[in-house]
Amino acid sequence: MLKITLATGNLHKVEEINLIAKNYNIEFVLPEGEFDPVEDSDNFLGNAYCKAKCAANLGKTELYLADDSGLCVEALNGEPGIHSARYAPSAKERIYKLLDAIKNEENRKAYFTCAMVVVDKKSNILFQTQQYCHGEILKEEIGDNGFGYDPIFFVESEKTGMAQLSPDKKALVSHRAKALNEVLSWIKNEYIEK
Ligand code: IMP
Repeated sequence: MLKITLATGNLHKVEEINLIAKNYNIEFVLPEGEFDPVEDSDNFLGNAYCKAKCAANLGKTELYLADDSGLCVEALNGEPGIHSARYAPSAKERIYKLLDAIKNEENRKAYFTCAMVVVDKKSNILFQTQQYCHGEILKEEIGDNGFGYDPIFFVESEKTGMAQLSPDKKALVSHRAKALNEVLSWIKNEYIEK
């Protein structure tokens, strides 16, 4: 079993990632010690690298995987984007702030994106990818699953709300699933089949 440190403190993220990776012989473990990264980049890949470096500094495994994700809304020039987690104090407030910000916009196109970076113990980048899930911002919340902005996101490929998707279905179509599948294919080629 290959152990990889997942550079996050978010348990929901760990659950989603473990579900997507369930057919691989990989155990994702949380960083040990104080994981408190400074995310000072202006883009998703840069911020994922900040988290990866912070986890690698704490040590523990050979490989470290970090992700940085967010929701980008066309009519808001890509906002909340890298500020998605801090757009407003609580998840509900973030949703209402976003709905209010685009209430007069006809263009409701948006996408979730997820950047992932794999580093070694010395913080050398071994692999990186950025993937997308396209859709639109709904006019009101719908569905009970998922987290964050899921209740107001309509998934173009599924023609349904993100929060209406079962966890198994989200694990097939989300931005995070697509990015993780790239990472898992790379790990499989580099570490498991050799
Ligand atoms: P980070 O990737 O932990 O820096 O946070 C990204 C933020 O983007 C989260 O706190 C959510 O608000 C939002 N976000 C990222 N992925 C998703 C998702 O799959 N569903 C809903 N919101 C998401």
